[in-house]
Amino acid sequence: MEVEILGNVKSFKQQGGLLTIKTIKAEARVCVYSPTIIRVNISRRHSAPDSSYAVIQQPIGKFEFDESADAIEINTPALKLSINKSPLRFNFSTADGKPLSEDDSRFGTNWQGERVITYRKLYADEKFIGLGEKAGNLNRRGTSYVNWNTDAVDYNNKSDPLYKTFPFFIGLHSGLTYGLFLDNTHKSYFDFGATTDDEMSWFGADGGDMNYYFFGAQGVAKIIEDYTWLTGRMEMPPLWSLGYQQCRWSYMSAKEVLKIAKTFRKKKIPADVMYCDIDYMEGFKIFTWNKKTFANPRAMMNELKAMGFHLVTIVDPGIKIEDGYKQYDEGVANDYFAKYPDGENYTGYVWPGRCHFPDFFRDDVREWWGAAFTALTDVGVDGFWNDMNEPAAWGQNIPWMVKFGDKYMPEVRNAYGMQMARATYEGTRKILNNKRPFVLTRAAYAGTQRYSAVWTGDNTGTDEHMLLGQRLVNSLGITGISFTGVDIGGFSANPTPELMVRWNSLGVYTPMFRNHAIQGSKMREPWEWGDVNEQLIKKDIEQRYKLLPYIYSAFHQSTQTGLPISRTLAIEYPFDEKVYFERFQNQFMFGDALLVSPVESDKVKTDVYLPNGDWYRLSTGEKHKGGKIVNVASPLTDLPVFVKAGAIIPMQSVTQSTAAKGDGILQIHVWNGKETTEFVYYEDDGLSYDYEHGGYYNRTISFDPKKKQVSLSEVEGTFPSKYQQISLELHGFEVSMKKRLFDFDSGLIEIKI
Ligand code: GLC
Repeated sequence: MEVEILGNVKSFKQQGGLLTIKTIKAEARVCVYSPTIIRVNISRRHSAPDSSYAVIQQPIGKFEFDESADAIEINTPALKLSINKSPLRFNFSTADGKPLSEDDSRFGTNWQGERVITYRKLYADEKFIGLGEKAGNLNRRGTSYVNWNTDAVDYNNKSDPLYKTFPFFIGLHSGLTYGLFLDNTHKSYFDFGATTDDEMSWFGADGGDMNYYFFGAQGVAKIIEDYTWLTGRMEMPPLWSLGYQQCRWSYMSAKEVLKIAKTFRKKKIPADVMYCDIDYMEGFKIFTWNKKTFANPRAMMNELKAMGFHLVTIVDPGIKIEDGYKQYDEGVANDYFAKYPDGENYTGYVWPGRCHFPDFFRDDVREWWGAAFTALTDVGVDGFWNDMNEPAAWGQNIPWMVKFGDKYMPEVRNAYGMQMARATYEGTRKILNNKRPFVLTRAAYAGTQRYSAVWTGDNTGTDEHMLLGQRLVNSLGITGISFTGVDIGGFSANPTPELMVRWNSLGVYTPMFRNHAIQGSKMREPWEWGDVNEQLIKKDIEQRYKLLPYIYSAFHQSTQTGLPISRTLAIEYPFDEKVYFERFQNQFMFGDALLVSPVESDKVKTDVYLPNGDWYRLSTGEKHKGGKIVNVASPLTDLPVFVKAGAIIPMQSVTQSTAAKGDGILQIHVWNGKETTEFVYYEDDGLSYDYEHGGYYNRTISFDPKKKQVSLSEVEGTFPSKYQQISLELHGFEVSMKKRLFDFDSGLIEIKI
């Protein structure tokens, strides 16, 4: 296929907020979204109306630019885009002219057939992070990736593509940062200098426009903030979904689900969520209940609810071809399924056998799908697990001529899972009235955080997978997906008891804490591992519940800033080389205060890298100077977790579920440090959308070491806190009284240490 080059600028004009630049071959459209975000869209046709599944913002209006003989220059207070005229090239730099990212001067943007690629200059010290759920190392330099949502059964650390598509990365070089989001749902490609001689980096897609958003903010966190401003942030999930979740493929009956739930309560192991995988359905038909094994779902739900449990049920997109099955009949009658060009419904084989696939790209189909959830919500289900939505069709690649909406499969495959999650979210949100649904999805595209949490699909019960899973979670966090989890214990294969214990201790510090396993594997519930291990797992789950006030506040922070809950150290320490070392790259901050080091289950000692500053071991209080590698004990009883000096960590006593009342005491743990620190404490009812209308409880807790004072600002919001007292708990201080009780008051509280 010939290479068609972009050519020289022939003419340009500005109309409103759009600068249009023409060459013989193509038209480039440039617009500004904010001082730090500029969009470039290069196309040979620009025929279709401008639309995006990901972007929810509009560009600003008219902007200034300068023209010289060689270039057009756009200057915002933060960013300079220099558009070279002959040939047309796009070069971004900081406002004061430091290069951030430039087209490869020889090749820039060009086409081969419909495939459009932009070649970029590669800087000697350039690192790349991002792309969400991608295997491999934190620093993606020297590697290449493809986005093509895939049912990636048995994936490993070399597999690509996996289930999701996030064409967004952050580049770091010369002490500078930039981000780039290629908003194109076709199969897309990213090459981060996987060329001999480090010649270039490049990105592109099999069709559509070279349509990218360039982010010029300085700091990885700032870029994530901008990216999630553009593509949206998650909303507050229901509090119960942050509790412990017990799942398994093959809880075969209501009786079995209830037995497991009762065992949690009997053994006093906290838990909030039970799951029903595909076996609750009649012949795997979506929106049905098995008449024998789940004969009375309402009674099951009532019992679960009485024990303080919520239930999440799976839904797959494939609708079984069977006359008399409601969803099939309605789908056929109303033409709701994806089609061949001759109008025949496409058929693919999944769990129920031969299926048709709802066309989630259509408004009416999403409405129909969303409304069908009453089959589940009517009995009391409020969690909805969207699986197989790459979409998976066994043994098939789904023919490229299959049509979704007015587009063909190659153009929209990567967004199918997102549109299913959207339909599920919008539908259940409507049905549940003011109650928050919990939605979980396997396939996703940029922006899915607005609708759903995600998990990383079918992993394996090995140490390697535990560490890989953490990297996936950390990387998803860079791309705006904060509510993430992995199958703890590994979906397939049987983990050793040691790995199971270790993985649960890491689960405490995973945004979604869910155990899940494949049908046919050994039972995995916490009591299946012997008494000693049961106690260890129980202790870990208890730790999760103690930390919930901190975790819930971290979720709130994420709804405001887009910063993830699990943060690769590259977010806060982007230019610290050690953060990218393979042996430290899995480490992460969990919220603002905790540094967690995932460790293989057979390692009783391990090296941990502590960035600059002072740190305390959470379990022992032992203090460490940062900026160095420390060798610490890592027995199964004690995953290495460190607290940043100055941290303020709100905690509570253990409860058996998030619905339990608790002892009414909010523990405020303060870890001594040298600088003044702040923590924004957030609480609401955990269930409804009242927080959107002031129904929350928000106050800033500050610690001033010079004044020796902890203070709580006045309360914002109308929600009455569920705590009546504060217990101030000090760590690393030389005061005799370590713990003091205070009454909770809505006004300013100042406590002398
Ligand atoms: C897929 C899912 C897995 C689920 C199974 C059966 O493999 O990824 O989580 O248990 O299908 O529904």
